Amino acid sequence: MTEITGRTAIWGILADPIHHVKTPQALNSLMQERGVDGVLIPFHVGADDLTALVSGLKAMRNLKGFVVTVPHKTAIVDLCDDVSKQARAIGAVNTVRREADGRLVGEMLDGAGFVAGLRENGIEPRGRRIYLAGAGGAANAIAFALAEAGVSLLTIANRTLSKSEDLRQRLAENHPSVPVEIGTGDPSGHEIVVNATSLGLKEGDPLPLDVTRLTPDQTVAEIIMQPEVTALMAAARERGCRTHPGRPMLACQLELMAEFMEMRP
Ligand code: ATR
Repeated sequence: MTEITGRTAIWGILADPIHHVKTPQALNSLMQERGVDGVLIPFHVGADDLTALVSGLKAMRNLKGFVVTVPHKTAIVDLCDDVSKQARAIGAVNTVRREADGRLVGEMLDGAGFVAGLRENGIEPRGRRIYLAGAGGAANAIAFALAEAGVSLLTIANRTLSKSEDLRQRLAENHPSVPVEIGTGDPSGHEIVVNATSLGLKEGDPLPLDVTRLTPDQTVAEIIMQPEVTALMAAARERGCRTHPGRPMLACQLELMAEFMEMRP
C-alpha cells in the first residue's frame, strides 16, 4: 500500500459479515499497480445502521465511492441520490460513486461483469438465444445486462415461477425489443446456456438444468466460482459443449467498479 497522507483518497466496501470479502485486496492492488493515491477500507455495517453510515459517508469529502455487498444491495438503492435506470429496474446497487457535491450515484455492475467476462473469452451474446437458469439476485442483474447486450431471445427458467414472471415483466418494461420467455429445465434450442442459480456451490447440489438435452453446439456459462469446474461444467464438457467458468465475471466486475468509482491516478 502507498503511504497514507492527507491527500489520499478513500473508497470503501459495505458488508455484514465483512471478514471474508476479497474486494479490499483486489482493488487496493489494482490501485497500487496504477499508481492511484488511494485506499479501499472495509466498513462493517449492519442493516439497522446503514442509513446513518451512508449519511456520514456523504459528508466525507475525501471519500470517492464504495462497493456494496450482502446484505445491503437492495436497501442502498433508496439511499442513493441517483441510480441508473438499469439498477432501479433490478432493484439493487453494488457500486456507488460519491460526486464532489456529496451526491451518491448508484450502479449495478454484476451483470455487466458477467457479459464483459463472456466477451473477454470470445463469446458474444448479441443476437444469440440465451437460456438463463435462475431468477434471484445474480440472475436479475445478468438478465438485464444480456438484454442490454441485445440478445435475440432470453428464456428464464427458475424453480419459483412467480420470480421468473416478475423478472420477465420488468425486462419487458425496460427492454421491450428483447423477446423473453419462461422456460423449463430443458435448455435445447439456445446457443448460450447460463447457470445463474446458486446450485453448484455445495457438493451434492442437484444440477440446475437437464444436461441430457445439451448439444455440442452450445456454450454453457457458470456464475459459480468455487469449485472452478462445477458439476454442470463437467457434464456440459462431457456432452461436447464449450464451457465458460464463473471467475472472469469477478475480474471484469472489479475493472468496471474501478472505472465507475473513478479510481485513477
Ligand atoms: P443470488 O443473489 O446468489 O442470486 P438468490 O437471490 O437467493 O441468490 O437466488 C438463488 C437462485 O438459485 C434462485 O434462482 C433460486 O431459485 P428460487 O428463486 O426458486 O429460490 C435458485 N436455487 C437455489 N437453490 C435451488 C434449488 N435447490 N433448486 C432450484 N433452484 C435453486
